[in-house]
Amino acid sequence: MTRRVRWLAAALATTSVAFAALGVTLFASATGQAAGVPATAAASPSSVARGRALFVQACSACHGFNARGVADMGPSLIGVGAQAADFYLSTGRMPLNNPRDPPVRNPPAFNRQQISDLVAYVGSFGGPPIPVVDPAQGNLAHGFQEFTLSCAGCHQVGAAGGIVTGTGGVAPPLNKVTGVQIVEALRTGPFLMPRFTPRQLSTYDADSVARYVLSTRDPADPGGWGIGHIGPVPEGMVAWFIALVALVLVARVIGERGEV
Ligand code: HEC
Ligand code: HEC
Repeated sequence: MTRRVRWLAAALATTSVAFAALGVTLFASATGQAAGVPATAAASPSSVARGRALFVQACSACHGFNARGVADMGPSLIGVGAQAADFYLSTGRMPLNNPRDPPVRNPPAFNRQQISDLVAYVGSFGGPPIPVVDPAQGNLAHGFQEFTLSCAGCHQVGAAGGIVTGTGGVAPPLNKVTGVQIVEALRTGPFLMPRFTPRQLSTYDADSVARYVLSTRDPADPGGWGIGHIGPVPEGMVAWFIALVALVLVARVIGERGEV
């Protein structure tokens, strides 16, 4: 091989390896759309009665026998509605063991029937019903916008969770919640989270936010790997690192061959 031919071959090999490395990031993954969960039907008197019996056993020590609250133990549940009760019970936040514990997500302590009964009982004191949520009625781009404005400060844009600034509290990742739980949470405002009234976030806004949050679980990655979905900087870095390593390797191989 003449010097020029070897040089040309080296240049060709280098570019093709670099292209191959970049090509690796060009996988496209399938899109996915999570479905909403239907709201429950109106409560029957027998469900309320069963709920009261469960409430006396599991909740009254902190919330009182008539759900009016107990000082230093738990707040009154009059008027919090089926909405809050369903959120706290379906995400396993209630019952607490200790009234000082922060309410965090746990496997639910009751089965779905028992939850419906407890929700019917708490709901019988008035307050907002379980919201009707239909993410398909929302708009993904609008949901992303609303989420960025109202939620991402704590939960991060990709809904992966984060720290609540100033309190040291943790805003959990939103990868386990259902559409209904998302809207229940934003209307209820559990623990350190603010609540959002229908004037601040309309039903359409809430459906859109739910649609966006559910979409973060299975993001469309048309450009390649998601790389944590935190933006273009890590994406560029990955491309550079792969290309850089490839280039150095190729240069070495060529250099060694040249010495022989
Ligand atoms: C060990 C005490 C304790 C027990 C037992 C308990 N709770 Fe609670 N509950 C609390 C405390 C404290 C809060 C307030 C949490 C907070 O700061 O967000 C609360 C909050 C709630 C809320 C939210 C109220 C609101 O203003 O939105 C609901 C709903 C609720 N509890 C339902 C229940 C139900 C139903 C049970 C029984 C299955 C139960 N709790 C058992 C202590 C308790
Ligand atoms: C000030 C910070 C803050 C903001 C803003 C905020 N959240 Fe939260 N969020 C929290 C915290 C803290 C919790 C955990 C509460 C708990 O464990 O009781 C939480 C819990 C949740 C949960 C329950 C998660 C689970 O796994 O059960 C959902 C859903 C949620 N937030 C959605 C939202 C949405 C949607 C918005 C915007 C409309 C929003 N949050 C805005 C701090 C925030």
